[in-house]
Amino acid sequence: MNIPEWYRDENLPTGVDYTDITQVEVYDRRHQRFRDYGAFANHVIEAAGIQPDHTLIDLGAGTGAFVLQAASRCRMIYAVDVSKTMLAFLRQKADLRGIDNVVYCHGGFLTYDHTTAPVDAVISSAALHHLPDFWKLVGLRRVAQMLKPGGRLYLMDVIFSFKPEELHEQVEGWIDGFVKTVGEEFREEVVTHVRDEFSTFDWVMEGFLERAGFRIDSITASDTFTSTYLCTKV
Ligand SMILES: C[S@@+](CC[C@H](N)C(=O)[O-])C[C@H]1O[C@@H](n2cnc3c(N)ncnc32)[C@H](O)[C@@H]1O
Repeated sequence: MNIPEWYRDENLPTGVDYTDITQVEVYDRRHQRFRDYGAFANHVIEAAGIQPDHTLIDLGAGTGAFVLQAASRCRMIYAVDVSKTMLAFLRQKADLRGIDNVVYCHGGFLTYDHTTAPVDAVISSAALHHLPDFWKLVGLRRVAQMLKPGGRLYLMDVIFSFKPEELHEQVEGWIDGFVKTVGEEFREEVVTHVRDEFSTFDWVMEGFLERAGFRIDSITASDTFTSTYLCTKV
């Protein structure tokens, strides 16, 4: 890929530094306390119509929330992440479980070069918010290129669906809610997310998805901070 000088360097950490092994271990431990990875993978597989002969890409695969659960239910998964530390951590877990149909790829929304056949589905959870808005659109256009016509995109992320005038109370409520349910140690991660990462509003995301070449089949907001978009490449 020929990278122009104005192109964003997606390897630069934004917010939480996932190149740091301590942060990676903390992330994995904390998130398993409040997320059910098995239920998540089941939902993705059912919603996106994933079949045993399908090939998938997980963009921003992290410690394997999806990959480790889904590998046995598809032909192959490309686990893509800008953090080599994340990829090594994921690989170690997958090897321990005897998972051998994962291809580990260092790259991201802006640089991953998918040179083999277009895939049946792309999954991305809690990763796109690492890009500022302009670059989200660039990344989503690249995702569309990785998919077969009619291929599915399952995009889950921290996306704001509250009214802009409620912003202050909503963010305070989100931080307090996490601290109450998951613990004080979570405060810093949520504060960092809002301050240093690039979560955006749902109405912005919808425009990006449509302009990137997707039809939005469904939008599910679990709360005013987390939304899932199930899309089809048109
Ligand atoms: C919050 S973690 C989510 C990991 C995993 N998908 C999950 O659901 O637990 C965000 C992940 O996105 C990765 N990431 C950051 N910027 C990225 C980019 N531009 N393209 C792809 N992945 C990126 C990080 O390295 C990290 O592994």
